[in-house]
Amino acid sequence: MTHPVKPLDLQAVRRAARQHIENGAVTAGYSADRPAVLKMLNESLATELVCVLRYRRHHFMARGIHSQAVAAEFLAHANEELAHADLLATRIVQLGGEPDFSPDTLLSRSHAEYVEGHNLADMIRENLIAERIAIDSYRHGIASLGEQDTTTRIMLESILAMEEEHADDLADLLQNLPPLPAIDPRPAHQSPPKLPPPSKKHHKEKS
Ligand SMILES: [Fe+2]
Ligand SMILES: [Fe+2]
Repeated sequence: MTHPVKPLDLQAVRRAARQHIENGAVTAGYSADRPAVLKMLNESLATELVCVLRYRRHHFMARGIHSQAVAAEFLAHANEELAHADLLATRIVQLGGEPDFSPDTLLSRSHAEYVEGHNLADMIRENLIAERIAIDSYRHGIASLGEQDTTTRIMLESILAMEEEHADDLADLLQNLPPLPAIDPRPAHQSPPKLPPPSKKHHKEKS
């Protein structure tokens, strides 16, 4: 069954476009709840920024013989999360809002957590959990937007597809990782404590 296409009332569209031109891309035809969309986008922005920080920390702290490929993956994900943050911030401005980059409230506004992790397996697991949180948050956002703001929805769908790839990459890494010892939590400039020199005393041999 074909869907009838309603003819465009061009005069009405032209009239409406001349009103409130300060709203830029937000026209009279925008039917979504703009404050709610901006709030959702700012929460996603905070989530992406926390993910950037966590992935970068993990990139620099990954140690051990299996760490090289994992550290490179963490950096790649960090950069992709930053690109998502930029997309979200751009859309927030297009919708007449302000992207919230305040570090004071970043963590409380983020859906994902910032967990440092004690070893490579911990780090991969924490990132996988964060990705799974992001996936469900984006799914919820996409479903609640429906047809009311297709530009935002399509953007969120493209981000969601990448979060699913990230989660898949991490699940693979976790599966292929042998058990590893905990990393040294001390900063790199701190040398390990010196052990006493081995005793030079000779034990008397038993006769
Ligand atoms: Fe992301
Ligand atoms: Fe991700």
